[in-house]
Amino acid sequence: MSEPVTLDVAAAYDVWAASYDGYDNPMVFAASYALSQASLPLSQKTCLEFGCGTGRNLAALAARGVSNLIGFDLSSAMLAEARKRDASWTLFQADMSAPIPLPDQSADFILFSLTLEHVAELAPPLREARRLLRTGGTIKIIEIHPFVSLQGISAHFKTPDGAEITMPAFAHHFQDWLGAFDQAGLRVDRLREWQAADLGAGAPLKIQRRGPAWPWVVDWTLSPA
Ligand SMILES: C[S@@+](CC[C@H](N)C(=O)[O-])C[C@H]1O[C@@H](n2cnc3c(N)ncnc32)[C@H](O)[C@@H]1O
Repeated sequence: MSEPVTLDVAAAYDVWAASYDGYDNPMVFAASYALSQASLPLSQKTCLEFGCGTGRNLAALAARGVSNLIGFDLSSAMLAEARKRDASWTLFQADMSAPIPLPDQSADFILFSLTLEHVAELAPPLREARRLLRTGGTIKIIEIHPFVSLQGISAHFKTPDGAEITMPAFAHHFQDWLGAFDQAGLRVDRLREWQAADLGAGAPLKIQRRGPAWPWVVDWTLSPA
């Protein structure tokens, strides 16, 4: 078996983009399930996703009646896949650790899904999310559970010819999350830890075989402090 190849984050997702949506990824299943259970008031009309990837979450939000969708990502190939999904979405390339080229109060609902593990410092993107959030809005963060990332598990995939690709990822402890929320001026409205047993009878084998108490994703619901 060949050694894993480590690429930088943008390069890794550029390679992964074409096969990402079809990949048998239990973390994507868990994050999608968590988002599907979120209550999204209809007044939350403009949704923005940091690290939107192929746009699969934007598509799920569109299916729930959200008409104004904005997403950005570091990887041009992931964005190209998102553009194929719906040309009406506002999509652009940007790094969430730098200032985002959008005006203050651009969105009612801001989503992070499986992307902050690639960011060493949580506070800068969260401060930007706070700036971009409209009065009365909500930020939702669905990310790999700290107990899982602390075991050295992080985003990785195999190319169609069998090469194992890894990329930089950072384990964020609960105190890192809470400290960053504080620095960004955000308040926790709800924390949910999605264990296998919470993910429905249709959860794939990769989820079930870890056992019912394995915590797949952590799901924060936040509002301005
Ligand atoms: C595992 S994918 C998740 C994509 C999508 N959010 C989802 O749930 O399917 C992680 C995404 O985060 C993006 N990403 C990683 N670091 C980023 C950064 N600093 N700024 C913007 N996007 C970033 C990657 O390019 C990739 O598309």
